[in-house]
Amino acid sequence: MAKTLIAFYSHAGENYVDGSVRFLKRGNNEVIVDKIKSALPEADVFRIETVKKYKEDYYELIEEAKQELRAKARPELTDTVKDMDQYDTIILGYPNWWGVPPMAVFTFLESYNFAGKKIVPFCSHEGSGLGGSIRQIKMAVPEANLTAGVAIHGAAASHCDREVNLILQHAK
Ligand SMILES: Cc1cc2nc3c(=O)[nH]c(=O)nc-3n(C[C@H](O)[C@H](O)[C@H](O)COP(=O)(O)O)c2cc1C
Repeated sequence: MAKTLIAFYSHAGENYVDGSVRFLKRGNNEVIVDKIKSALPEADVFRIETVKKYKEDYYELIEEAKQELRAKARPELTDTVKDMDQYDTIILGYPNWWGVPPMAVFTFLESYNFAGKKIVPFCSHEGSGLGGSIRQIKMAVPEANLTAGVAIHGAAASHCDREVNLILQHAK
């Protein structure tokens, strides 16, 4: 039977929240994924994680991310999805990093064949919404059936029920 995979990237630690740098014990997308998983208990969850650890200092991190974006880096991931064929729907969560998903998300997207699969993107942000992320994902996986993206204000990750419902609607 076809299944749903919730794949996400999330960065715990220093981040920009409502105008100031704060330490997040858990990243915003991780919090959002918990909500989606509660509504879809039968779905599997895959964390997109890089082998390399990013800088802990927020300002150093954003510089590092900018350089990766400029270099079109494809950072190595710690794990792979076992048998992507079993999934017909992939809910894909990521933060907005300089207007696009972190480069690790592209490593993920370029690692599998998404032909005929539905991808439901959602993006947490601090003001830029989805940015150019949907266009970039479309370019990375033209063979996938991409739904509209859902933008979630990162600072509202713990109370974003309306957006989570939208994601669930798209995933149906
Ligand atoms: C490297 C980096 C770049 C970011 N760039 C943007 C941006 O261009 N626009 C924006 O609205 N938010 C930006 N943010 C804020 C994040 O998108 C936001 O805090 C998000 O909710 C983080 O999700 P996470 O905790 O799951 O990683 C950036 C954060 C980081 C760390």
